[in-house]
Amino acid sequence: MANLEVEYCGVRFKNPIITASGTFGFGYEYDEYAPLSEYGGFACKGLTRQPRGGNKPPRIAETPSGILNSVGLQNPGVEVFAEYIMPDLAEKFDSNAIANMSGNTIEEYAEMAEILSETAVSLIEMNVSCPNVKHGGLAFGTDPAVVEELTREVKKRCSKPLVVKLSPNVTSVADIARAAEAGGADGVSLINTLLGMRIDINTRRPILANNTGGLSGPAVRPVAIRMVHEVYNAVKIPIIGMGGVMTGDDVIEFMIAGAKLVALGTGLFVNPSMILDVKRGILEYMDRFGIKDINEIIGTLTLNE
Ligand SMILES: Cc1cc2nc3c(=O)[nH]c(=O)nc-3n(C[C@H](O)[C@H](O)[C@H](O)COP(=O)(O)O)c2cc1C
Repeated sequence: MANLEVEYCGVRFKNPIITASGTFGFGYEYDEYAPLSEYGGFACKGLTRQPRGGNKPPRIAETPSGILNSVGLQNPGVEVFAEYIMPDLAEKFDSNAIANMSGNTIEEYAEMAEILSETAVSLIEMNVSCPNVKHGGLAFGTDPAVVEELTREVKKRCSKPLVVKLSPNVTSVADIARAAEAGGADGVSLINTLLGMRIDINTRRPILANNTGGLSGPAVRPVAIRMVHEVYNAVKIPIIGMGGVMTGDDVIEFMIAGAKLVALGTGLFVNPSMILDVKRGILEYMDRFGIKDINEIIGTLTLNE
């Protein structure tokens, strides 16, 4: 039997497949389609310091090979997660739970890291695609100096491995990854959604109530693969890759580019039990190439001359 087990930031994952935050609720929603124990881990919906109702509808618009969303971080707040949801998940499911957090200020992020460090989560993923209210609303994740400072401050109050989730809406994702590493991040994950817009030509208004949204799904996969490749060459900390995964071959592509874990996201909306097909696909690939251990393929890309 081929080995699918990987170690990420000191945590054992029975296989390299996890879920992408915001596409998997808190796990319960998908358990009837495929047991959560099939996944190496699962990332929960993005948490904020206070509960949030999210943006007004319409919040989802279809696009060629993808979707545009502006859900707006609807969630019950970090305290409800820590007190009620996480203890229940730990009791019910044999898989690594990953908390995902978003803040408006460095202090908010640090407080959440402290609260989440007291729970049974395996990793804390820090979403830096959020407006920095103290810096005119520009996303934290677009400025290397801010990412480094944020990571350093959060690490001081975080006793779990901290994974910084990078925004693709930047000129150099490698520079941001280096900044996260310099600030003490244990890992990085990418990509978050790409900023986009759709317009209703009859009303000449944006389709999303929020006007703009984040693009995800197979349409973004080549961008994500390129960015994982760049980040793999820029930092030593391990990478979680995501963006448009639909099959086992897509997971393999991310791993060759340098990802150690790979997340399923928007694809779950099309096929909620895709984990089963994805695992089968990975095992078929390994069998075809005589690969005994999945770790052997990570970062094995050879560029053309
Ligand atoms: C509906 C929806 C909600 C999302 N919510 C979050 C979130 O709360 N936090 C976060 O870091 N990323 C969030 N994301 C981004 C995904 O985790 C992922 O990075 C992105 O969608 C790319 O992967 P995919 O193409 O496989 O979906 C969300 C994506 C979608 C489609």
